[in-house]
Amino acid sequence: MAPVNIFGLKPTLIILVLIPFISASCLYPNIDREVSSQLIIDDVQTISSCWDLLNCTFEEIRDWQPVTRLHFLQYMQATHFQRLGSSDQFRDMEGITEFTMRKGIAGARTWVSHVEAAAIEAVERAAATVLEYSHDTGSNPGVVKWVAFFREQCRGGLGDRREHDQAWSAASLVAIEHGINRAKSANASDPAARELFWVHGLRVHRELMQNRSIIVFFVRAALIFTNKSLAVTIERALEFFTRVNTPVPMKLWSEVVWQVGGILFGYHVEGNSSDWELLRLIAAQFWQEYQKAAKD
Ligand SMILES: *[C@@H]1O[C@H](CO)[C@@H](O)[C@H](O)[C@H]1NC(C)=O
Ligand SMILES: *[C@@H]1O[C@H](CO)[C@@H](O)[C@H](O)[C@H]1NC(C)=O
Ligand SMILES: *[C@@H]1O[C@H](CO)[C@@H](O)[C@H](O)[C@H]1NC(C)=O
Ligand SMILES: *[C@@H]1O[C@H](CO)[C@@H](O)[C@H](O)[C@H]1NC(C)=O
Ligand SMILES: *[C@@H]1O[C@H](CO)[C@@H](O)[C@H](O)[C@H]1NC(C)=O
Repeated sequence: MAPVNIFGLKPTLIILVLIPFISASCLYPNIDREVSSQLIIDDVQTISSCWDLLNCTFEEIRDWQPVTRLHFLQYMQATHFQRLGSSDQFRDMEGITEFTMRKGIAGARTWVSHVEAAAIEAVERAAATVLEYSHDTGSNPGVVKWVAFFREQCRGGLGDRREHDQAWSAASLVAIEHGINRAKSANASDPAARELFWVHGLRVHRELMQNRSIIVFFVRAALIFTNKSLAVTIERALEFFTRVNTPVPMKLWSEVVWQVGGILFGYHVEGNSSDWELLRLIAAQFWQEYQKAAKD
């Protein structure tokens, strides 16, 4: 039941996001400096006035189709989050939503839709709080964490990649757990083993974000005398893999976890080569983007 309101259709919005001048320049000083990315939100349907007031409820977001959630994420970043220095900070979450769209696993009121809705609601309500639109947290504990993130980001306090990633991933983790609890208390039908495994993969990614500097330390220590260039490569790959201002790492990671889950839980008995082809394409895209980032 997609509450699509044809009559509320707004004209096509084309919004320019000048990444170099906004948050990216303080977060990733050496990357993408000269790239001005154009985010095109095509045929955005603001299906509810809550898009402009940032007060959509958990239930509303959950009951949308995933494509609407994707548009909402893009819309928030392009229209509201510039003032928070965060107009590119949720592209990682766009990657997740794109993935759920491809797999068809996050339709309205499914188990996954609860997790996705909680993640998006937390960001939305936190932004509303910092922008002084409202102070309703929707009882989502992720809101407090994202408020702290946005405040720090506005103050320019997250220029250090390690601190940025710690704050970002901590907030994201809390919201994901909240979504899992919401699904439980709403008696949403149980997730497939593969879906549960994939959500656990999201957790692992966030934990990697938190512990990246420890891992890099050990990689460096292990390879310093034997293969320093390999250590540098691993470090750079990890840094790219945990970036949130691009949807590509999360798209790749989700596909990888999904395929592993498929093997573990026997979904590949029938075999589907198009899945592997997709994985290959996304891996190639990851490699391209990684190389582009590494060049700077
Ligand atoms: C959002 O806020 C507006 C203005 O206060 C209100 O009219 C509307 O009902 C709110 N929407 C939700 C979903 O709470
Ligand atoms: C979920 O199920 C429990 C136990 O069957 C019940 O008490 C609760 O009211 C249900 N919650 C919802 C939202 O339907
Ligand atoms: C990563 O860090 C988090 C908290 O910062 C901790 O809970 C987790 O156990 C760590 N994981 C590893 C593998 O070190
Ligand atoms: C170091 O690792 C790279 C792969 O990144 C490899 O091509 C190279 O041969 C290695 N060098 C040594 C000295 O082992
Ligand atoms: C493989 O999966 C894709 C989408 O995931 C689907 O469109 C296609 O029909 C599947 N092919 C087979 C042979 O099952």
